[in-house]
Amino acid sequence: MNQAVGLMQVVNDVAALAEAAAERVVARLAAPSDRPAVCLSGGGTPERLYRLLGTERFRARIPWQQVHWFWGDERFVPFDDARSNAGMAMKSLLAHVPVLPKNVHRIPTDTASPHESARLYEAELRHLYGADDLDPRRPLFSVVLMGLGGDGHTASLFPGNPLDETGRWVIGVDRPGLEPFVPRVSLMLPALASTREMLFLVGGTSKRGVLKRVLAGEDLPAAHAHADGELLWLVDRDAAPERENGA
Ligand code: 6PG
Repeated sequence: MNQAVGLMQVVNDVAALAEAAAERVVARLAAPSDRPAVCLSGGGTPERLYRLLGTERFRARIPWQQVHWFWGDERFVPFDDARSNAGMAMKSLLAHVPVLPKNVHRIPTDTASPHESARLYEAELRHLYGADDLDPRRPLFSVVLMGLGGDGHTASLFPGNPLDETGRWVIGVDRPGLEPFVPRVSLMLPALASTREMLFLVGGTSKRGVLKRVLAGEDLPAAHAHADGELLWLVDRDAAPERENGA
């Protein structure tokens, strides 16, 4: 098993993926913390999880007034653009639960460039963290959600992009390697790693090939992801390698 991949849990389907992820998020947010914080991912996979967290079954189990909400990456588009990761999370969850608006930390996309947005977001993260260097014993996040793109990208760190520019927590990405082909803003791997738990959500047959490449240790951004705490890949049967899904 590739060191970076860590543990893998195979679940039946995308519904079970959302269920398993929701239970992990609830458990992490229940742990004592002076600032519980979730770093959300974008794209299509997590939307089912976000909707589930707002249902009666999970709603009462999350300390909404205490939790801070961040994003691991964002498309450099207006908030009301259908491609906005923050817009998707707002519509599917945050607008329907009692979060404190001051605790919702969106990546700004109304700046002059994704690089300016990255500088601003990095400053906000550093201010909230209260130190310039990340300490593995004091993680930035309680849980970081991650996706896997068909080219092996994660967050908005694409093959060929720098993954860990020494000292930088957030970067602008002018040319993403996969649609939507709009500039991006992305946390870098060391900032994403500063978490009690990193949770990859991977579902569907379209991800089987790229997941196999990650597991084989191919030099892909997602294969370099790591976490100061636990790293768990939640994968459904359609995306899991043959040996894992009993096929
Ligand atoms: C983004 C995401 C990205 C996503 C993967 C998988 O902004 O696009 O953060 O990293 O997680 O591309 O996306 P799907 O879940 O849509 O396959």
